[in-house]
Amino acid sequence: MRRETLAAIAAADLDGLESLRVALLGKSGAVTGLLKALGGMAPEERKSRGAEVNSLKTIIADALAERRAALEAAALAARLKADTIDISQPVRPEQQGAIHPISRTMEEIAAIFGAAGFAIKEGPDIEDDWTNFGALNIPAHHPARAMMDTFYLNATHGNRPAVLRTHTSPVQIRTMLDWARRRESEPDIAPIRIIVPGRTFRADHDATHSPMFHQTEGLVIGRDITLGHLKGCLIDFLRAFFDIPNLPVRFRASYFPFTEPSMEVDIGWSKKTGEIGKGGDWLEILGSGMVHASVLANCGIDPREFQGFAFGMGIERITMLKHGIADLRLFYESDMRWLRHYGFSPFAPAMLHEGI
Ligand code: PHE
Repeated sequence: MRRETLAAIAAADLDGLESLRVALLGKSGAVTGLLKALGGMAPEERKSRGAEVNSLKTIIADALAERRAALEAAALAARLKADTIDISQPVRPEQQGAIHPISRTMEEIAAIFGAAGFAIKEGPDIEDDWTNFGALNIPAHHPARAMMDTFYLNATHGNRPAVLRTHTSPVQIRTMLDWARRRESEPDIAPIRIIVPGRTFRADHDATHSPMFHQTEGLVIGRDITLGHLKGCLIDFLRAFFDIPNLPVRFRASYFPFTEPSMEVDIGWSKKTGEIGKGGDWLEILGSGMVHASVLANCGIDPREFQGFAFGMGIERITMLKHGIADLRLFYESDMRWLRHYGFSPFAPAMLHEGI
C-alpha cells in the first residue's frame, strides 16, 4: 500500500492530490480505516500494528504535503514567467478624451454666472406634475401638458402623476419652497441667486428637436429685484458667452404662464451668413420674465415682500450657434470623429479671465 500510494502521489496534479488525500486520510479513507480497526485488536497486536499504521500515516501525510508544495512552487514560477513585463516595449498611444460641446456650454454658463455670484442647483429628471406644471401656473388644460409634448410615466411621485420634466423651471419651485421653509428659522438667509443646468424631455424628434435636450434655468429672488436687473444680467451674460462686447440684445414682450411680464430675448445676427453680432436680423435665444406673483405665493413667498426674475435657455441651440453645428442629432450619436472635432480639451477649463 505504501509503495502504490507514494507512486500515485508522485504522479498526481493538485486536484488529484486532494482526491488522494480524501481517499487515504479522509473520514472514510483507507488509512483511517486501518486506524479504526486497531480498536478491535488485542493489546499486544494493537501495539505493533499501531506503530506500523501510524508511521504509514505520517509517511503519506508528508508525501502529500511535499508534493503539494512542489506543485504550487512550479505553478507560481510558471505564472511569474508568463506575467513578465517587457519594459523595453514602447508606450502604447493613449486616446485622450474631450469635453462634449454640451458640457462645455454648461461649464461656460456656470463660469459666467458663477462670477456674478450665482450658485448651481440641480433637480431630478422625474418630476411630479404639480412641480413641473401646476406650481408654475400651467393649468390642467394647457397645451404644454398634452401627451404630444410631455412624457408621462406610468407611476406617481408622492401621490401626483410623474412626468419627465419638460423644462428646468420646476427647480425654481423646489428652490423657492426650500428657501421659504429655511427662512422660518433663518430670517436673514441670503436671497436666491441660482442657475440650474440639466436634462429636459419632450415628445419631439426632428433635425432641431430631440426628445432629450438640455436647458439652463436662472432664478433671482430678493427684496428689490427689478426688470432692470434681469436685462443687465442677461445682456452681460450673452455678451460674455458669445464673446462679442457690443452684441445687440433685444427684449421682446412675450408670454409664459409663470412670469409677468415676460420677455423673449433675441440677439443680433445675419440670417444669410449665420454670423452672430452683425447683419441686422434677430434670433430668439431665451425666455425670461419677472416671477409671477402667484408662483411666489405657491412657494410660500409673499410677493409683496419679495420679487425676482427667471430665465431659461436651450443649451443645444446656443451651442450650435456658437460653434456652427448644423444638426442637433449629432450631439447624441457618440461619433468619436465628431467629438474629436467639436470637443474641448479637458485641460483648458472654461474661465472668464480672458473672455470665456
Ligand atoms: N421654461 C421655459 C421654457 O422651457 C423658459 C423660461 C424659463 C421662461 C424661465 C421664462 C422664465 O421654454
